[in-house]
Amino acid sequence: MTLGEFIISNQKAFKYSSGELSRLINSIRLAAKVVNHEIRKAGLVDITGAAGDINIQGEAQQKLDVLANDLFKQTLINREIVCGIASEEEDDYVIVEGQNKTNDNKYVLLMDPLDGSSNIDVNVSVGTIFSIYRRVSPIGTPVTKEDFLQKGSEQVAAGYVAYGTSTMLVFTTGNGVNGFTLNPAIGTFYLSHPNIKFPEIGKIYSVSEGYFTHFQEGMKRFLVHCKELNKEDNRPYTARYIGSLVTDFHRNMLKGGVYIYPATAITPNGKLRLLYECNPMAFICEQAGGKASDGFTRILDIKPSELHQRVPFYCGSKQLVQKAERFMSEFSAEEKPYYDMVSNNDNTH
Ligand code: AHG
Ligand code: MN
Ligand code: MN
Repeated sequence: MTLGEFIISNQKAFKYSSGELSRLINSIRLAAKVVNHEIRKAGLVDITGAAGDINIQGEAQQKLDVLANDLFKQTLINREIVCGIASEEEDDYVIVEGQNKTNDNKYVLLMDPLDGSSNIDVNVSVGTIFSIYRRVSPIGTPVTKEDFLQKGSEQVAAGYVAYGTSTMLVFTTGNGVNGFTLNPAIGTFYLSHPNIKFPEIGKIYSVSEGYFTHFQEGMKRFLVHCKELNKEDNRPYTARYIGSLVTDFHRNMLKGGVYIYPATAITPNGKLRLLYECNPMAFICEQAGGKASDGFTRILDIKPSELHQRVPFYCGSKQLVQKAERFMSEFSAEEKPYYDMVSNNDNTH
């Protein structure tokens, strides 16, 4: 089944079935293919540019995360399919106006247009993350910040594109998680991974352990636990860390594991952004039977206060996340207010 066929046959099952959400997913499908095309030639840009045909065009020299941002934004704006966009690459949210300066669309889209972008230079997988909400302000008026600062539990749909050895679009509209693989020869996504579920028992942990010295006590103890020998729960676990959230998450969802970007002494709120990274991945995670928290609290229950706010992120197989949480509440509960009290926006990293 192709993604196009899937959207048509599932339209009734989508939360809001006016067709607007289907058209929006269709636009994301198109933008994903365009970005995929650009990423696949990333290593060639300098070579072909030296031959004089691409490099003189501004676009080819643009950083790929800015280019991906522009391509997604433009695809959505051109189709007048959303009323507002917020992106990791934009300082503020973007109001989308229709040709007549009005806009009757009810959805806002938030995105991390290129996740793991530092991996581009070394030919390692990257991704795009998106999150969709129904606006809370009246239709026909310009969107407001409140339309974007909704709890993750209000998401209507969320997904990611993984530009890996193959390109996959994985998304949920609140009815389970489905994965589609691009056949590059004909530019069509096919349903390759229906109804994805996290394996009950996972044994992969994905953390940048290089920052161990900066971690809270609970996190340190959890990492020591992962490495201890214990046949009963299959320890020691396997360490895997790519440094692309999308790719680390995708692998863990298929094989079973936990991804953690914890609070550190230098980045008390972790690194990942609540709105563009954690909320969409948490929604997908829960829809696949997993669990996502900040070490103490469910991610989807956090009321955002700022567009670019960061939050510690624990997500993956339920049992592993619960285990990490137990270490955090036993050994770091009194440290929790430490990161709560620090401003959400000042930890650049
Ligand atoms: P982005 O490229 O959108 O800035 O995100 C990178 C993120 C995430 O994908 C990854 O897991 C994490 O940063 C890696 O951070 P460290 O290099 O600190 O491990
Ligand atoms: Mn990112
Ligand atoms: Mn990014």
